[in-house]
Amino acid sequence: MSKEVSVWTDNRFWQRSAAWVTGFASILLIWLTFDTSGQIAMGTDSDLQNKITKRVPAPTVINYKVTYEMSDKRGHEVPVIGEKEKFFGRDDYSEKEAADLLHLGKLASQAKNCMNCHTLLGNGAYYAPDLTKAWLDPAWGESGSMMALTGKNSKEEAMAEFLMHPSKYPTHERMMPNLGITEDEAKGLVAFLKHMASIDTNGFPRNFGRMEGAIHGK
Ligand code: HEC
Repeated sequence: MSKEVSVWTDNRFWQRSAAWVTGFASILLIWLTFDTSGQIAMGTDSDLQNKITKRVPAPTVINYKVTYEMSDKRGHEVPVIGEKEKFFGRDDYSEKEAADLLHLGKLASQAKNCMNCHTLLGNGAYYAPDLTKAWLDPAWGESGSMMALTGKNSKEEAMAEFLMHPSKYPTHERMMPNLGITEDEAKGLVAFLKHMASIDTNGFPRNFGRMEGAIHGK
């Protein structure tokens, strides 16, 4: 007479389950990898011209106005790439010029170790304001104080001036030290920050646009 064996004590059951779970998880991971690569692939200049939304727009996004809008569907704010906007007096940066400018900014951000104090796209420190959406901080806009304080007529010039001489414009209890940033580096860094602000980060960091001074804590 054969003895009843519970399925839970059957080795073959566990071996088969392990094989199925491993197989399923591998397929899921491969699919997710492709999906993520597609989602974070940088857009092109023609995407921008044709108003095709990409999570990471082309570097030439610096030729456009970048704002944010609440998306009820997604439950957080999403970037909106608007009309053409002058950036240091121009709105016709070629793909190569814009990419070179961003590259210079990225190198400068690494050389000067901004992440030692700030957070960029979730990486870095919280000693100083999160820089992911610093470009959208109202402090730099028409209603903010930074243009008047630096004596500049545009957001990008005010930001560049601040980056070159931060200790001249102390607006926070903590002061950003002078890091010896050159004019070219400052321009690159501002382009880098503007591009970063145009990236759809699923609403990270939370509430940046709604609270005046949320980023540029005052
Ligand atoms: C030693 C720490 C430190 C380092 C390194 C540093 N910062 Fe700052 N930064 C600060 C502090 C503190 C503030 C806030 C001071 C203020 O707003 O006046 C600040 C403010 C800023 C602001 C204004 C933030 C806003 O949202 O309006 C920008 C932009 C900025 N830093 C960019 C940079 C960049 C780019 C780098 C790297 C090249 C950098 N910082 C490196 C400490 C630092």
